[in-house]
Amino acid sequence: MNALIIYDSMYGNTKTIARTIAEGVTGNVKIIKAGDVRPMDDVNLLIVGSPTQGGRYTKPIAAFLNEISGKIKKGTNIAVFDTRMPSTWVKIFGFAANKLADYFKKEGFDTVVAPEFLLVQSAKGPLMDGEREKAMLWAKNTCRTMNP
Ligand SMILES: Cc1cc2nc3c(=O)[nH]c(=O)nc-3n(C[C@H](O)[C@H](O)[C@H](O)COP(=O)(O)O)c2cc1C
Repeated sequence: MNALIIYDSMYGNTKTIARTIAEGVTGNVKIIKAGDVRPMDDVNLLIVGSPTQGGRYTKPIAAFLNEISGKIKKGTNIAVFDTRMPSTWVKIFGFAANKLADYFKKEGFDTVVAPEFLLVQSAKGPLMDGEREKAMLWAKNTCRTMNP
């Protein structure tokens, strides 16, 4: 199994989560920051994660999605996550993970598990207690649920 994790991160929290997810995923795992992306060869599981900024994913993630549009191999398992703040007022803008799932839906791919979100205490972090453990469980669940 070849997994590719693409993430973006301004303050390091999403990077920490991406690394935790990489530890929880079985098989070959490549983890790459959006912007440093190389072509995707033989990827069975593509995981994309972004900080929520202004209710959506970041520009480097948008550029990555633009680049792979129409080129995702049939049968690729897709999973998405974001980091976000717990405050209720931000809800009106939406969140990165949901918009990532919407993007993949438009490309013809359902995510193999529900989009995950991990909470930061404030914009710069740190992550709230238990969020790394949550990410690890989600990674393991993703591998159990995905198609071989
Ligand atoms: C410009 C900016 C806009 C943000 N907008 C939102 C938002 O709409 N909703 C939200 O929950 N968090 C928002 N945040 C908080 C980010 O989600 C938080 O900074 C991020 O999860 C931290 O991840 P990182 O350390 O990987 O950058 C925003 C942060 C920045 C810097």
